[in-house]
Amino acid sequence: MNRVARPLPECILLYCRGGFEKECAAEILDRARDLGAAGYVKAKPDSGFVVFIPHEAQAMAALRRELRFDDLIFARQLVFALGPVSGLPVENRIAPLLDQATALSDRFSACFLETADTNEAKELSVFVRKFAPPFQRTMEALGLFGDPEAPRLHVFFLSSTAAYLGISSAGNASPWPMGIPRLKFPKAAPSRSTLKLEEAFLVFLSDPEHELRPGMTAVDLGAAPGGWTWQLVRRHVRTTAVDNGPLDPALLESGLVEHLRMDGFRYRPPRPVDWLVCDMVEQPIRITALMADWFAAGLARSAIFNLKLPMKKRYEEVERCRALIRERGAAFGFPYRLVFRQLYHDRAEVTGYLARLTRQAIAPVSRS
Ligand SMILES: C[S@@+](CC[C@H](N)C(=O)[O-])C[C@H]1O[C@@H](n2cnc3c(N)ncnc32)[C@H](O)[C@@H]1O
Repeated sequence: MNRVARPLPECILLYCRGGFEKECAAEILDRARDLGAAGYVKAKPDSGFVVFIPHEAQAMAALRRELRFDDLIFARQLVFALGPVSGLPVENRIAPLLDQATALSDRFSACFLETADTNEAKELSVFVRKFAPPFQRTMEALGLFGDPEAPRLHVFFLSSTAAYLGISSAGNASPWPMGIPRLKFPKAAPSRSTLKLEEAFLVFLSDPEHELRPGMTAVDLGAAPGGWTWQLVRRHVRTTAVDNGPLDPALLESGLVEHLRMDGFRYRPPRPVDWLVCDMVEQPIRITALMADWFAAGLARSAIFNLKLPMKKRYEEVERCRALIRERGAAFGFPYRLVFRQLYHDRAEVTGYLARLTRQAIAPVSRS
């Protein structure tokens, strides 16, 4: 029997932090253009999402194949979607949604029912929480689940009667509903900043337990009061915490922390360390240059660094930092991976991850 051709996804749906739609829009236009796909965006200020529509429908196939989530800074999630469905009948929303879903794929590995992460969408999320169980049960009854290789279905509600339906692939998207890792603040941590580093480990590392293990060494630049150092100590990583400010005394009692009251730009370790982390409040380009200096001198294997973006041209500023690493990286003498991402716990900031690649890990090098 001839299969009916499926409609290609028509657009790319990106979730982002409210207020960063302009940045998210500018980068998807650039990344799509890099892949030869011109198009336009819909990006309403403070809506928490952006939609990219290619001029040529056929360009979606290449975008699905080649657009990498890792290459996006401001997107929390990457979904290939159909045009929005609206006017869902309140007495039976499930049937028309399933019609669209099955137009995208026969099977799904999971289903996320979502909204934008904005105050306005909070009320809508109450409806979505109620709607999710019967919808999921119907999908299960129809045998639409069960294939772990299949794409995930996203139903992104705009209102209780309108939604985008789309798919994402496990290896090229955020693993969390709404692209948000729900982390609990650990009471013993000295600052809320601790959640930024915890999220960074989850987002950037493929094997956190192996990549952060007892006996490793780290330097934390701009460490006080110690939320980031706390994450390292928790994993028994011996840490030099550099900051003129005071550190939580409990960290010093762990026996794993040395506190140095000095300028983080001047400090260099006597021996190379496994990890360099940096949360100093400084110009992004200065922080990035410092990371490049450490790598060029072979002083760290991996780095996580926060870039504060109080300026207007935030996307351009991060791209300037990427260009600087690219320029300096040519002289590192080893392959590396560089990713920038605005994490859920980042405000007007992004977090960078720079890591020396071992031979075995060379395969998925992102745009660096
Ligand atoms: C955002 S706070 C760091 C919070 C920390 N990551 C935590 O989780 O608790 C920034 C810190 O950077 C420090 N700082 C700023 N410039 C510095 C410099 N040049 N050298 C060392 N520390 C610096 C400040 O003293 C401040 O404690």
